Amino acid sequence: AAPVQYQAESATISNGLVESNHAGFTGSGFVNYDNEVGSSVEFTVNAGTAGPAALTFRFANGTTTNRPMNISVNGTVVASNLSFPATGAWTTWTTKSTTVTLAAGTNTIKTVATTANGGPNLDRIDV
Ligand code: GCU
Ligand code: CA
Ligand code: CA
Repeated sequence: AAPVQYQAESATISNGLVESNHAGFTGSGFVNYDNEVGSSVEFTVNAGTAGPAALTFRFANGTTTNRPMNISVNGTVVASNLSFPATGAWTTWTTKSTTVTLAAGTNTIKTVATTANGGPNLDRIDV
């Protein structure tokens, strides 16, 4: 099936803010994670069938330093310190994909910053 877009600004945010001051986002904005370990965004996504699914994160990182995050599915970390490298500017958005296993029906996908720099700015995920 065609990917479904889940906007970060509509997800559950812990220690982060919805902002719109860097152009190029989709939807109504993006999440600026607080620059600390543990800031997070949690999405609720639907899968028609159980099995592998590509998660594509659309993000910007205007620093020169990777902003890794742990990716959890239904409470289990399935990608540790997934890298979100520098994109050159906060207005330069790119994508990062990883494949995870989803259950049929509702799944939670949580993205948690693992360094004191926090996560990148996150626009959305496509599932
Ligand atoms: C700047 C930028 C934010 C970003 C932050 C950061 O303040 O405007 O969008 O989140 O840097 O370094 O995380
Ligand atoms: Ca930030
Ligand atoms: Ca968005």
